[in-house]
This record gives sequence, structure tokens and C-alpha cells, in this order.
Amino acid sequence: MTDLPQTMKAAILKHGGYSATSTGPVIEDAADWLEATELPVHNPGPGQVLIRLRASSVNPSDLHFIKGEYGQPRVKGAVAGFEGCGDVVATGKGAEALKGQRVAFVAAGSGAWAEYIVTQMQMCIPLRPDISDDDGAAQIVNPLTAMAMVDMAREDGDAFVISAASSQLGKLMCSLGRDLGLKPIALVRRAETVDTLKSLGAAEVLVTSDPEIVEKFAAISTTLKPRVFLDAVTDQLSENLFCTMPNRARWVTYGKLSTEAPTLSQTGQLIFMGKRIEGFWLTQWMMSTPPADQMRVVAEVQARFADDRWKTDVSEHLTLENLVSNLADALKKSDGKVIITP
Ligand SMILES: NC(=O)c1ccc[n+]([C@@H]2O[C@H](COP(=O)([O-])OP(=O)(O)OC[C@H]3O[C@@H](n4cnc5c(N)ncnc54)[C@H](OP(=O)(O)O)[C@@H]3O)[C@@H](O)[C@H]2O)c1
Repeated sequence: MTDLPQTMKAAILKHGGYSATSTGPVIEDAADWLEATELPVHNPGPGQVLIRLRASSVNPSDLHFIKGEYGQPRVKGAVAGFEGCGDVVATGKGAEALKGQRVAFVAAGSGAWAEYIVTQMQMCIPLRPDISDDDGAAQIVNPLTAMAMVDMAREDGDAFVISAASSQLGKLMCSLGRDLGLKPIALVRRAETVDTLKSLGAAEVLVTSDPEIVEKFAAISTTLKPRVFLDAVTDQLSENLFCTMPNRARWVTYGKLSTEAPTLSQTGQLIFMGKRIEGFWLTQWMMSTPPADQMRVVAEVQARFADDRWKTDVSEHLTLENLVSNLADALKKSDGKVIITP
């Protein structure tokens, strides 16, 4: 590691553990949760690689996590950020095959919002040269979730429902559904995103602020018979819509964009109509899906980005230097990911 610096820029967590709050993936000021600092660059251990960052994405899961509202406890002082892409500049024993490769990675040991990242080699995916760094920075969390959840939906008929459909993940799922011959029913909160969703293949698009949304959704539900509701919002409207879905419908909650806690108004539907409420978490999918199947999904994801069937919409680029001061403002822009570069 002689040609590598001793220290690096990084954004670290200000707090440890869980917070017991449920305020959602929004922040007033990143300085409440993060601190910009200089840290030592570590050597990779056995089975690990050291990656020099090219780009990292900011996902809602990162915001839930820094606030202590995610499925894993925070470690005070640890680097934030779950995913990114970069170049493998050093390898531990057994990981030599990745030396020199540009990879997309999930940060397993130290976070992605730093100049250098140590992670397990299994958390790295070598990137095709025709994938841009921006796409590489958001190559794992949302694309794999989109593939896994649309796969789940297609087992249960040809129509399915997507909430927060204007999110990056919503858009990926919509166009994937269309490409597979399915009928995505998109729910959006901003009317100006309706045309975008239609152009991405939504069979129907409803605006959640429409006072007649429940009736309109019920009519669509009767015609198209969607049996899977992929829900990132999980509020009372979600529950009301789920109640109008046909028998054997599944409400799959995978995000908590809304802070509202829904109540169940018709539990009899779970008993008499065979309806189900369940969760989806990519981490669980990765642990339970055989590696060969995951590799097939990864190859398909890269192919979709390489030939422009999918793309990462970017709202703003930040650097590690201005991340803490500018993140909250950058996140106010709709329609795209904030990407962090060194
Ligand atoms: N469970 C898993 O394994 C997993 C994996 C990946 C992602 N996710 C979840 O998937 C969701 C989308 O992720 P993403 O990266 O695609 O997000 P994103 O691109 O950052 O977009 C989030 C979008 O959701 C919309 N939104 C925000 N708050 C909302 C609310 N209260 N009600 C309705 N819509 C709201 C906003 O769009 P508008 O401004 O256009 O309304 C916002 O741009 C997140 O909840 C994330 O945590 C879960």
C-alpha cells in the first residue's frame, strides 16, 4: 500500500444504536447526523478488498440508517453510506482476482461515503466498461430490488401495483414490468409525473391526492385484478387501496416513505379472502437466493443499464468535501439521486 495515502476524507455517523423515532428518510441538516472528518486508510484483511471511490449514491435507506431508523444499529464514528462504485486498489488474501477491477459494491465493513472503502470481495460486482460511474454507484440496492420484486409480482398475475412510482425504484419496476408484458398500476403523489410513468409503461397512473382515488383504484382493480401491491409508502391510503384488491392479494411493504402509521380496517379479508401482508428486504433476498440465481440477476441488471433500458436519474453531484453542508438541500430536489464523488 505504499502508493496509497495514510488518511482519507470520510463522513462518519454522529450517533450509535437505534433512535426509536419514525420520522422517515428526510433530514433538515446533515450535520445533525454526520460529521466530515479525516480517517486512516486501512489494509484489507483476508477475503477483503480496498476500493478507491468513484461514486456513491444516497438512498432513502442511508437516511433511515443515519437517523437510527433502519434494520441495523448504527455504530458511532463509523463511515456512513451503503453502496457505490470504485476501483479495487489492494486485496487481502484470497481476493486477488479483483485487483485493478472497477466494481459496484455494498459497504459491509466500512461505509461508502469515504475516499477508500474496505469490504468483503463477495460484496463486489465487477462492472462492464459500458456502465457509467453514476449508474455503477446505484447498481445494487434498487436494481436488484426491482428485479426481485417484479419477479415476485409476475408469479401472481399480469397486473401489479407500485406506490411512490416516481421514485428511482418505482421507475425501474415500471419499465421492467412493461418489458415483461405485465401491467404496472402506478401511484404517484405529483400529477406532473403522470406522463413520465406512462412513458415508462404504466398501464394506469393514479395521483394519490385525487379525492376519488379509492373509487378509481377499485374500478381498475376489478378490471385488471392486481394481486401484488409493492408499497414503499405504507400509509392509511395504502391500506384503503389494499382493501379494494381482489382475493389472495398481497400487500408487500418494502419502504416507509410516509410517517403515518396505518391501521387495519378489514382484518376479515385476511381470514376470508386469503389476503396477506408481508415485507420485503433486499438483505434477506441476498441471504436466501442461491449465488447462481443472483449472478443471473446481476448480469441482466448490467445489460439493462448498458443498453439504456434503465438509467439512474441524477439530481445533483456532491463531493465528500461539501456533503455534510449541502446534502439536505440537494435532497429537496425531486426526480433523481444525489451522487457523491470523492
Ligand atoms: N426493502 C428494500 O430492500 C428496499 C430496497 C431498495 C429501496 N427500498 C425503498 O424503496 C423506496 C424508494 O427508494 P428510491 O431509492 O427509489 O427512492 P428515491 O428515488 O430517493 O425517491 C423517493 C421518492 O419517493 C417519493 N416520496 C417521498 N416521500 C413520499 C411520501 N411520503 N409519499 C409518497 N411518495 C413519497 C418522492 O417522489 P415525488 O417527489 O415524485 O413524490 C421521492 O422522490 C424507499 O422507501 C426505499 O427505502 C427498499
